[in-house]
Amino acid sequence: MKIAVVVGTRPELIKMAVLINELKKRDSSHLFIHSGQHYDYHMDGMVSELFNLPKPDYHFDVKSGTHATTTATIMTKLEDIIVKEKIEKIIVHGDTNTTLAASLAAAKTFIPIAHVEAGLRSFDKTMPEEINRIVVDHMSTYLFCPTKDAIKNLHNEGIFNGIHHVGQTIVDAVEFLKQVNSVDVLKKYQLSEKQYFFLTIHRQENTDNLLRLISIFLTIHELSQNSNYKLVLAMHPRTKKILQQHNMFDSLIKNNNILLLDPPPNFYESILLQQHAKLVLTDSGGLQEESCILGTPCITLRENTERPETIECGSNILAGYKRDTIIKAVEDSIMKSTDWTNPYGSPGISKRILDLITN
Ligand code: UD1
Repeated sequence: MKIAVVVGTRPELIKMAVLINELKKRDSSHLFIHSGQHYDYHMDGMVSELFNLPKPDYHFDVKSGTHATTTATIMTKLEDIIVKEKIEKIIVHGDTNTTLAASLAAAKTFIPIAHVEAGLRSFDKTMPEEINRIVVDHMSTYLFCPTKDAIKNLHNEGIFNGIHHVGQTIVDAVEFLKQVNSVDVLKKYQLSEKQYFFLTIHRQENTDNLLRLISIFLTIHELSQNSNYKLVLAMHPRTKKILQQHNMFDSLIKNNNILLLDPPPNFYESILLQQHAKLVLTDSGGLQEESCILGTPCITLRENTERPETIECGSNILAGYKRDTIIKAVEDSIMKSTDWTNPYGSPGISKRILDLITN
């Protein structure tokens, strides 16, 4: 049986890296296909190097475009390859436009889809990712859920077949990093243990809404002046471009209490920076999970989360974009204990997924 795994963005590469390597190890004729939705070295090549990923068998080089352009281009290119290579199953991950496009191409050519990270819901259809998740789940034959909450979401939408509770593959990625030669990030960035906050902002609903963007960045400046903690801000290219358009980027560079990491650090350093931070502030889904696994409190700069288990276990607070709720969440999080139980399972998840797909 010929299987193809299709990914395209930094988080998909990170969460699928162990699975891709394992798939190739089992049979090198299986295909690793990269859409090229992310293409900057620090969003793509750096991740591949870190995990020793093989060169993709196909690379679509789709780069940035509108949602429809990206999705349509990937669909068209993948359809040809499905036919040419006689692909029999497709594995996709998460909720990106690459995930949607690959799944649509597979569904239309009657190829079973295995969806890793199935069942997540933010219940906010203004997020492009929410649309992608829902559509992909409803087309999938295998639904690999990270948590029981995710299974409940699928049941509520009438999906009962093909569901497997396997855990979250980010656990495998974090485990893999234990083999990587250690870098002293505190020394490298001149930071002290638990004396800084680690921040990331990149989601469309924050970057493309000026009210939210200004509110979040004014609060970041305020925190940098009024708290005893340094702020370490990893800059996503989307956010940088928008901050520059609104003349808000230079003030970040000039703020001595903010350490701007531009381009953002590689995944390994991002994990270590989260591990040693006092708090993580983010709108990323991945960082909500990673901080939970690493034992660092997280504040989510969104109105909702598709990771409710992080709120339930006590690692995460939803603070939205408004100044008062963010400041209150920071005050509460600094004080809280970090003895929650990680809800994402134990290493070996990628292998389990492949066992289920191939047997
Ligand atoms: C995408 C995913 C999101 C994921 C995120 C991780 C969708 C709908 N969203 O969002 O779920 O959390 O990846 O980063 O697929 N850009 C570059 N260089 C790059 C990549 C992006 O400069 O290598 C800039 C471009 O201006 C681009 C913008 O970032 O237009 C947005 O990129 P895109 O892939 O559309 O969305 P992300 O915000 O990265």
